[in-house]
Amino acid sequence: MKKIVIAIDGFSSTGKSTIAKQLANNLNYIYVDTGAMYRAVTYFALKNELIGEDFFKQEELINRLGEITITFKFNIEVGFAEVYLNGKNIESDIRTLKVSKFVSPVATLSEVRKKLVEQQQLMGKDKGIVMDGRDIGTVVFPDAELKIFMTASAETRAKRRYKELLDRGHQLSYDEVLENVTTRDHIDSTREDSPLVKADDAIEIDNSDMTIDEQLNRLIELAKEII
Ligand code: C5P
Repeated sequence: MKKIVIAIDGFSSTGKSTIAKQLANNLNYIYVDTGAMYRAVTYFALKNELIGEDFFKQEELINRLGEITITFKFNIEVGFAEVYLNGKNIESDIRTLKVSKFVSPVATLSEVRKKLVEQQQLMGKDKGIVMDGRDIGTVVFPDAELKIFMTASAETRAKRRYKELLDRGHQLSYDEVLENVTTRDHIDSTREDSPLVKADDAIEIDNSDMTIDEQLNRLIELAKEII
């Protein structure tokens, strides 16, 4: 069977990673959550007080990018690869609303993008990979054999993210989550370097009214047509 690259892009909280993980497991492919990599850099910036409510030491963060090593390690108990920053598992530390709040400004920096895109391209060089993010089909793998662009209404997405955060024990309001989702979408779609846009050859899937199984079956069908 031929191995391909599957790029899944889309707005925040469209459920890309849930589907991407399951698709990768189904095809026996590697799954890479590129959002986790931007979140890892943001976590580093927050820990080192390089970004906060009213400051962003961009130059210092850029100068310190060499101190950041991001790796993934498959955790059999959860069924996917968790993200590590300099050897420390930060999978749950990067899923907070605080990191979500600062990640889009960090992701506008070209130097950050360059570092992470290089690593992503290396991870996918042998194909057999499902990668999700914002610029996978446009910048990271413009020649990906299958490109998906996921959408859903902002309210549907905020409701999903709100439930997910509550389930993890975070205390926050639905309005805070909605505000975060719409602000991130705006920054991600309007930034100069690699804005979130649908690649011309991407297949758009609006999953507002689709179950996870329906989405997964659709993606498996699309992948199998190529493989
Ligand atoms: O996918 P997730 O919501 O975890 O991504 C967090 C943020 O990382 C996005 O809102 C975006 O700012 C940034 N990102 C990006 N390019 C990617 C993946 C994520 O700019 N390929």
